[in-house]
Order: sequence, then C-alpha cells, then structure tokens
Amino acid sequence: MANPGGGTVCNGKLHNHKKQSNGLQSRNCTKNGIVKEAQQNGKTHFYDKLIVESFEEAPLHVMVFTYMGYGIGTLFGYLRDFLRNWGIEKCNAAVERKEQRDFVPLYQDFENFYTRNLYMRIRDNWNRPICSAPGPLFDVMERVSDDYNWTFRFTGRVIKDVINMGSYNFLGLAAKYDESMRTIKDVLEVYGTGVSSTRHEMGTLDKHKELEDLVAKFLNVEAAMVFGMGFATNSMNIPALVGKGCLILSDELNHTSLVLGARLSGATIRIFKHNNTQSLEKLLRDAVIYGQPRTRRAWKKILILVEGVYSMEGSIVHLPQIIALKKKYKAYLYMDEAHSIGAVGPTGRGVTEFFGLDPHEVDVLMGTFTKSFGAAGGYIAGRKVREGPLVSV
Ligand SMILES: Cc1ncc(COP(=O)(O)O)c(C=O)c1O
Repeated sequence: MANPGGGTVCNGKLHNHKKQSNGLQSRNCTKNGIVKEAQQNGKTHFYDKLIVESFEEAPLHVMVFTYMGYGIGTLFGYLRDFLRNWGIEKCNAAVERKEQRDFVPLYQDFENFYTRNLYMRIRDNWNRPICSAPGPLFDVMERVSDDYNWTFRFTGRVIKDVINMGSYNFLGLAAKYDESMRTIKDVLEVYGTGVSSTRHEMGTLDKHKELEDLVAKFLNVEAAMVFGMGFATNSMNIPALVGKGCLILSDELNHTSLVLGARLSGATIRIFKHNNTQSLEKLLRDAVIYGQPRTRRAWKKILILVEGVYSMEGSIVHLPQIIALKKKYKAYLYMDEAHSIGAVGPTGRGVTEFFGLDPHEVDVLMGTFTKSFGAAGGYIAGRKVREGPLVSV
C-alpha cells in the first residue's frame, strides 16, 4: 500500500505529491481547515500534507440515457398500474386479499412501484445463483424466465468461469480450501450452525469470547463485540449509542446500514459533504453554538458517522482531520471499516494503521467479516470504558 504521508487519493489510490511546493500544500490545508487541528503539541504530523481526491465522472451521455430510461420506465409503470387496476393486465405482484381489507395493509402499493415496474425488467442482472466458491471467477447456474422475470427456472446448464463482479473477496480467503476450512468443519460439528445466531437466543459460547478476544487483539484495542451480520451491526448498534436529543453527523456517501441505524436511533441527522472537513466543521460549530432546535439545549451527544474506505467510490476517510475535529468539538466518532479492515494498512489493520494513528482515537470501530475475511458477521470495537458516557443514552 502506498505511503500515507504526502499522498493524494484518486479513486482509492494514493498518488505521490511530495514534489509540490510547500506554498500549495499549506494553502490547501488551510483551505480544508485542517492545519491547526492536525498539529498536536506543536509537532507536525505526516497528515498535514495534502490529500487530494478525484473521482472518475460518469460521461454525460450515460447519465442522460440512464435518467431517460428511468423516466420512460416510470411512465410505462404508471400506465401498466392503471391497466392492472382495471383488470386489463394481470398483476403478478403480491396484493392485499379482499377479506383483509380492514387490517393494517401488508403491502404498500406505492412503495412497491419501483420493484414492480422497474426492477422487474432488469432483475436478471443480479441475484444470479452460483455453484462454486466466490473467487475472482465462478460458475453460474443458467436460468430463464417465461414470465418477464417474475419467476425463473434453471436449465441445468452451468456457465463456467464467469468474472465475479458481484462479491468481495479482498484477500482471496473466500475461495481458499485449506486448513481454515477444516477448522470451520470441526467447529461446526461441535457447535452446529447456531453458533452464528443471535446471542440473545442462543447464549454466549466460548467460541464467541475467543473470536472477540482475537478481533480485539488484531485491532489492537481493549475490547470487541461480534454480531452475526454486518448490516445489523450498524443498524442495530447505532440506536444503542444515540437517541432522542442526540445529533448524528453523517457523511453523504455512508452505506445504507449506517443510514438505517441513524434513522432507527431517533437522533437528529445532519449530512456533511463527502469527506469534506469544512462541511463537517460547519455542522459541528453550528451544533455547539445553537444546540437543539427550539429549546436551544445542548445536544446530549454528537456522533460523527464515517466509513474507512467508501464502498462505491473507493475514497479513504480523512481520518486525522476528522479526529482533530471530533476532539475540538467534543463529539464521538463511529467508523465503519467494512471495506478497509484486512485490506488497508501495512498489516491489514485498517485505516488507523494506514495513517499511523492509535485505534483508540476512534470511539467506535466497526467492521465486517464479509469483505476481507471470507466469512459473515460484524464487530464493534474500542475501549472498554469511555471517558464520556457514549453508551448511556
Ligand atoms: C460500508 C458497509 N458497511 C456495512 C455493510 C454490511 O455488511 P454485510 O454485507 O457483512 O452485512 C456493507 C456491505 O456491503 C458495507 O459496504
């Protein structure tokens, strides 16, 4: 991996800018509002240097045709819904039964509009069943639809060696049948598959403890908790950390599991521009100055939500600057390392290692086992006891 000092990030790749003049660097750093915060005890750290990101823009004609396609699909969707309403076209979608009319509806008609009218047309591009390990190449089971993608049937033919663009396997572990597979088999034989279900139901086993200790040791933090699903690690734990009267500051490109967790928490949510410390600082400053709307009481907690490496763009979080801001404004930082753990940093310990920072600088380290580790589940890690009351809402 490239040296974090003095590099610039382009589509997740760092480019060396060491040759740039100091004048340019300091001008940009000041512009980003990071110079003072990035210096601690008068010492200048490597991350004072310029981080410049650039993303490949989608060509204009692609965007125009995509939006036009969705526009036309939507118009036809309304037309077909009209025909279905009048019984002119058969509706294959789930609908409320007549005798259940007086109950709370199970299917919201409009919410399914996209699924019914647009997704159905392109559905076969995804969700293809595979029948080999999900390595860089895999085998796909051929299927066909006789009713415009509402249902599928397998033809029995297997399409060999298709390029896998649909799943993550950063370290190649998902397709590796070696000692680790034998260990998994042995553990499953003793514990059964229930070992990965929720501990509220199945209890805590020594294997959970072993895994948590291993995760904490790997991340170099005091403690870790593991959960059976990465998505739920975010969506179910954020509400345990913040609630009503708290403020969440969320990067605009955060993953949907973070967005759902934030929404379920009941906290007020404000969005800052992607990886933009100026935009974040403005929100933090306003939050501290104005407090909660109407009452003007101070926010109970301010939680910043970011990702280590952003899944769709490949950009790396500007962690040193964000840590400096969270300290300055006494906020908490929650970082989702789904895409960076195992893959970023000289020994794969994630973004904190990449920037040479103490992992305890991030209040809540979250990650998943799906991308690098060829498994399932997620973790929350950090200090056992915080100085501030992050956990009690
Ligand atoms: C940033 C991020 N967080 C969380 C998740 C959820 O993880 P999982 O797929 O392990 O449930 C994903 C999944 O893609 C992700 O990209």
